Amino acid sequence: MSVRFLLNGERVHVGDVDPHTTLLGWLRERGLTGSKEGCAEGECGACAVALLRRGPDGTPRYDAVNSCLVPLPSLDGQNVWTVEGVAEPDGSLHPVQAALVERGGSQCGYCTPGFVVSLFCEYYRPGRVEPDPESISGNLCRCTGYRPILDVLKAIPAAAPEDPRRPERRLPVVASDTESRLEHVAGARRFLLPERLEAVFEALERFPEATLIAGGTDLMVYVNQRAARYPVLVSLQGVTELRRCEAAPHELVLGAGLPLSELEAELAERCRGELGLLEQLLPLFSSRLIRNRATLGGNLGTASPIGDSPPALLALDAELTLVSRGGARRVPLIEFFTGYRESLLRAGELIVSVHVPRPAPRFQRFYKVSKRVLDDISTVAAAFGLDLDAAGRVERLRIAFGGVAATPVRALAAESAARGLPWDRATVEGLLDAVSAAATPITDHRGSAEYRRAMVRRLFQKFFADTALAAEAAE
Ligand SMILES: Cc1cc2nc3c(=O)[nH]c(=O)nc-3n(C[C@H](O)[C@H](O)[C@H](O)COP(=O)(O)OP(=O)(O)OC[C@H]3O[C@@H](n4cnc5c(N)ncnc54)[C@H](O)[C@@H]3O)c2cc1C
Ligand code: FES
Ligand code: FES
Repeated sequence: MSVRFLLNGERVHVGDVDPHTTLLGWLRERGLTGSKEGCAEGECGACAVALLRRGPDGTPRYDAVNSCLVPLPSLDGQNVWTVEGVAEPDGSLHPVQAALVERGGSQCGYCTPGFVVSLFCEYYRPGRVEPDPESISGNLCRCTGYRPILDVLKAIPAAAPEDPRRPERRLPVVASDTESRLEHVAGARRFLLPERLEAVFEALERFPEATLIAGGTDLMVYVNQRAARYPVLVSLQGVTELRRCEAAPHELVLGAGLPLSELEAELAERCRGELGLLEQLLPLFSSRLIRNRATLGGNLGTASPIGDSPPALLALDAELTLVSRGGARRVPLIEFFTGYRESLLRAGELIVSVHVPRPAPRFQRFYKVSKRVLDDISTVAAAFGLDLDAAGRVERLRIAFGGVAATPVRALAAESAARGLPWDRATVEGLLDAVSAAATPITDHRGSAEYRRAMVRRLFQKFFADTALAAEAAE
């Protein structure tokens, strides 16, 4: 079986290729060396390419992704544009390339193809009015300095209506010749691309040793950096049931397989501030390049103690729907993590959706402590939710942390001790010991146990200060 997709407008048909081959490795082997390898782990953006796909509202657009983390078979049926496909058909520079030249946005040039692709996607972003600095948040430059590059971002003009590279003029989004979908076999290794949940279960039954892959932003780092190899990979990227988002009267349902940038758009559209915790968290979650592929299911599926979504979802009292061929079960997130990188997930089972009960807490805050503000993993993450009664007493307090124990944790004792107390400085100071008792941190390269313990206390105090400010602003 083979992988077929559109590459810079041309149909390509790739025969027997190992499923662990990354798009970046394959492009460079093929002589398309514009995309660079800086890190092979999603950190630098030098490998960025654009996928032409439809947004949640159906509008076609370019999404920039890290080609070093994209397994080649996952592109089956897709429409891919690399930096080689950006320039004018006559070879003259695209406006974003010309602006980089004019404004001195490149020195050694190693990062430049990645910036060009990210700026290209931003140039054609549907409905762009203001430049979005997030569009280049996953691109690092070690020698030019960012100011000239930011100047380019701010100066890029609107795309002309007759521009042949506008996304709607480069359809189809999906290459029509897709009979090879569903299963890619190379030697003894397989990559399956089911489109329905039922087909996922069939695959898991046929291949009990199979590993699920969603955005691959976690799993492909192991492939690239630790030479991890999987006999069978079952991709969840096209599974319709995992992409559902819904605002029901009693709960919000978030599809576990939705790329996080689509989730951001859905939250802005459907929830309008109701899930402030997720809205504050998502811009801090790595970069646009990563969020264009990473999913909530993958973030929870790793059961990592430093994943950013678990504390936010714990503070929202989220539940998960886990589904296997035998049926579905609903599990409170607080019971899901059972140990370091361990969860309740059974063989043959996957996370289909995340459920947040309504009403969500009125005050919500997410804080991420990391060495860099953007594009970095948390040292400590904290999430808080609070409701007060008319007399200013605590009705509901939720306190959750990541990075301070073997699993994400909630400070349950502090939460119940707070009930009915006035939300003031004395209460907060009185709760500090109970809050920090939830943390059993270790020392690692991101921070010492002592530092993490101090952060837990400080972030709770910060939450109090922020709620006081928010209450003042509301008066
Ligand atoms: C440069 C970089 C920056 C990052 N920054 C952050 C950050 O700021 N915050 C953060 O929290 N994480 C970060 N990560 C980690 C990673 O991006 C996230 O954990 C992401 O949410 C993983 O989602 P994915 O869909 O890519 O998972 P994948 O890599 O596809 O899968 C991860 C694991 O989850 C399993 N899985 C996937 N989907 C499901 C499902 N529906 N049900 C059950 N199991 C499933 C897979 O089998 C695999 O074991 C970063 C990673 C990189 C490379
Ligand atoms: S090579 Fe650095 S992000 Fe891909
Ligand atoms: S121009 Fe050298 S890394 Fe950016």
